[in-house]
Amino acid sequence: MRRTIVAGNWKMNASKESVNKLILGILSGMSEVSSEVVVCAPFPYLSQVEALITHSQVKLGAQNLNANPAGAFTGEVSANMIKDFGARYVIVGHSERRSLYRETSSLVAEKVKAALDNDLTPLLCVGESLEQREAGETETVVAEQINAVIELVGIGAFRNIIIAYEPVWAIGTGKTASPEQAQAVHLFIRSLLGESNESIAQGTPILYGGSMNAGNANELISCADIDGGLIGGAALKAEDFLQICKAG
Ligand code: 13P
Repeated sequence: MRRTIVAGNWKMNASKESVNKLILGILSGMSEVSSEVVVCAPFPYLSQVEALITHSQVKLGAQNLNANPAGAFTGEVSANMIKDFGARYVIVGHSERRSLYRETSSLVAEKVKAALDNDLTPLLCVGESLEQREAGETETVVAEQINAVIELVGIGAFRNIIIAYEPVWAIGTGKTASPEQAQAVHLFIRSLLGESNESIAQGTPILYGGSMNAGNANELISCADIDGGLIGGAALKAEDFLQICKAG
């Protein structure tokens, strides 16, 4: 039985005041939540969140990392720095990073490796654009994104990797993939992992992301191969996020 994981990706949305309010709101409802809950905060707020979630079930993640351990990389943040603030997760290869910052699948794989080498759990994001879906390329795109990681770190490393399927056309658009569309890709991803190792394929959590909200979370998370969600907009409101955390 795979665990259910709900992770909030706050993206570049936070202030000291809003972080305080959001975390206290989430904590107030956690007694009714049984899924694993992660909040991925912007770097400057990791310390604040670390302090607020002490002794709670809420876990901390970052949204990106540099693949190098240290050195002359102005403006960048390493896996070790993230770990220093109590974070155990890090989002890697989000579509916004792939498209806006030109992150290739091989760079994403390097980042996954750096996270794993430092005992951080990567939340590896994959997903196709609308153009690619309409051209019937969804499986090819997702397979290329995942195979690049398998090639670098090996299938065994997926014991410590969480995958998030985030169709680019569903991110921030309010246009969610239907449970059937999402389930089909999740099943494809699991089969792809299964070609290398069936037991790892069965154990790997695959989250859905893309306009998941309090209203549609239940239906999506109830699908056989959808093990939770990676939530953007709806993770910024404690009430909505908690509702999603209770789904599934
Ligand atoms: P939205 O939930 O705002 O569509 O964002 C999804 C996402 O990109 C999570 O990483």
